[in-house]
Amino acid sequence: MSGTTHSQFDDLSSLYEDMASWPFRKEIETPSVLETLGDVRGKDVLDFGCGDGTYSRILKRLGARRVVGFDVAEGMLAHGQQRESENPLGIEYTNALSESLNGQFDLVLSVYVMPYARSKSELDRMCANMARVLKQGGRLVTLPIHPDYEPDPQYYAQYGFSLTQQPAHQENVDVRLDLFYDNFNATVTACYWSFASLYDALAKAGFTHIKHKNPVPAQYADIDKAPAFLVPYLKRPHAVIVEAS
Ligand SMILES: C[S@@+](CC[C@H](N)C(=O)[O-])C[C@H]1O[C@@H](n2cnc3c(N)ncnc32)[C@H](O)[C@@H]1O
Repeated sequence: MSGTTHSQFDDLSSLYEDMASWPFRKEIETPSVLETLGDVRGKDVLDFGCGDGTYSRILKRLGARRVVGFDVAEGMLAHGQQRESENPLGIEYTNALSESLNGQFDLVLSVYVMPYARSKSELDRMCANMARVLKQGGRLVTLPIHPDYEPDPQYYAQYGFSLTQQPAHQENVDVRLDLFYDNFNATVTACYWSFASLYDALAKAGFTHIKHKNPVPAQYADIDKAPAFLVPYLKRPHAVIVEAS
């Protein structure tokens, strides 16, 4: 896995940076991911499929020792590097997971990347690459599309996106993600993977402890007491947090 390719993400770095402030990410996803990662101070972290580098910057600011952002989309990496040159945090960006990175990281974070594996063998390879860079006892936190996402495409419209798949919940079938929030408008094509395929790919990569949970930050543990606007998402999130070690 090396080298940048032309990708559907090349022109979407500003959108993804903006998306970090969309309520479902800011209020639900980001705090849930950070709570799942735990204290990152002094840890070495690889942000696999780092996109514009939003999580890389958050993790470095939270005190991670080494943060490497890896992505295959040139446009995304350029955006991360631009932010790094404007405000140096010490993040390294790379388009290649060289062998020198094997066994180097306490944590691998990979947010919304597994759905871009187009075949089961690509999903297996992706998981193997996530596994090989971890230290013994290291941990992967990843967010694929929730295999039990709400199939009504309008369900997520109030959060700025829709998911459309026909038929819904079909293995290795395209999922269209339309993004429409703030002044942004874009369509991305992802791929649906069942829990069976996700767990199988992780197990093949050598992970032995695999579990998943919905993204629910501690402050909204009692979902019905969360702000009304967030409740439908909390009850039926479009992404799931998978932890593997
Ligand atoms: C939906 S974006 C998410 C970006 C970022 N993780 C975030 O949370 O905003 C998916 C990213 O995964 C990257 N990606 C897709 N397949 C990849 C692969 N096999 N290896 C590394 N990055 C990949 C894409 O280039 C894109 O930047």
